[in-house]
Amino acid sequence: MEPIEIRGDIYWVGVLDWEERDFHNFLTPRGLTYNSYLIVGKEVALVDTVKHKFAGEMLNRIRKIVNPEEIDYVIVNHIEPDHSSGLPVIMQIAENATIVCSKRAKDGISKYYDCDGWEFKVVKQGDELDLGGKTLTFLDMTMLHWPDSMATYVKEDKLLLSNDAFGQHVASEERFDEDLGIEEALSWAKMYYANILMPLSSLVKRKITEIRNLGIEIDMIAPSHGVIWKNPQKILDAYERWANFENEDKVVIVYDTMWHSTEKLARAIADGAGSQGVRVRLFHTRRDSWTDIVTEILDAKALAVGAPTIHNTLFPPVAGFLGYLRGLKPQNKKVLAFGSYGWNGAGIKEIERVFQELKLEMLEPLMVKFRPTKEELEKAYAAGVELAK
Ligand code: FEO
Repeated sequence: MEPIEIRGDIYWVGVLDWEERDFHNFLTPRGLTYNSYLIVGKEVALVDTVKHKFAGEMLNRIRKIVNPEEIDYVIVNHIEPDHSSGLPVIMQIAENATIVCSKRAKDGISKYYDCDGWEFKVVKQGDELDLGGKTLTFLDMTMLHWPDSMATYVKEDKLLLSNDAFGQHVASEERFDEDLGIEEALSWAKMYYANILMPLSSLVKRKITEIRNLGIEIDMIAPSHGVIWKNPQKILDAYERWANFENEDKVVIVYDTMWHSTEKLARAIADGAGSQGVRVRLFHTRRDSWTDIVTEILDAKALAVGAPTIHNTLFPPVAGFLGYLRGLKPQNKKVLAFGSYGWNGAGIKEIERVFQELKLEMLEPLMVKFRPTKEELEKAYAAGVELAK
């Protein structure tokens, strides 16, 4: 793919990773992208690099626009290695370039890489860098999603280079939201938000308000993953909805099972919820991707989690899933713990403990010894109806 001019003298020089299917446990069924941008004013800046193994491909794209040795600045919006591990390759060629980053990013880069001889310029919220015809303003994005994170705004082009925020893990030849289809782009963005930004929702809300209050005009948002937003309002509005946990009439049921007893309960709960005309999603913790499950949980009004008890504790696949969910801190949902047991219901109590820790409003748990009776299945159906209501 050729470099793409996304605004006057600003080029996409990133790479498409069609192969990757597991991005540190975030499953990526359609691969992902690492977006880098080259800004050509009187001076030249490269905004973010790419994963190390693709650095050569990025350099080839840069060479079609400028000689990489002439890069004056490398802006590091974020040090996570998917964006920064190509930095040593670039710095070997662009020997005179200055790295522009936050103070925390400088400290992190020094831990990740041997940066002997590299020049740094540390910037903070509101600092500007004039490239001659292109003015960059740096916006603090602390904890969105790492302590070092920042974004770069190009004043003349009303362009926000937002790094991870507003990104999506998908590889596509299409570079813009409209070309991929806005609804499809939003659905990949939702998956990204649920699996990476959900626990930071209160910060996301504050940051969006802050950006709106800065009074800067944003015509385009170019993240470091996925397609570029020519319709920035679409993704800003979606982020506000997700960060506020504005939920849909949807019940998500997540379970695992040993001898089908918990499965029978899960299906009865699903039937009960479905009888009320709401959307129902039923997931199995070993057959379904946790990435997909938490994407559906993000905007569900109700969640039921079920498991058998084994070895006097929670069935491990559900324990693992709950460990993942706990870290993502879903909010604003009614929840139900359910499951089967032989000797005691210790596993179900562990599900309840996670719900308590997350401060989610719980319905009466549903615990069944060995196999659910007809009456117990009716209770499960009723619990589904209650969740849906
Ligand atoms: Fe936080 Fe795309 O790295």
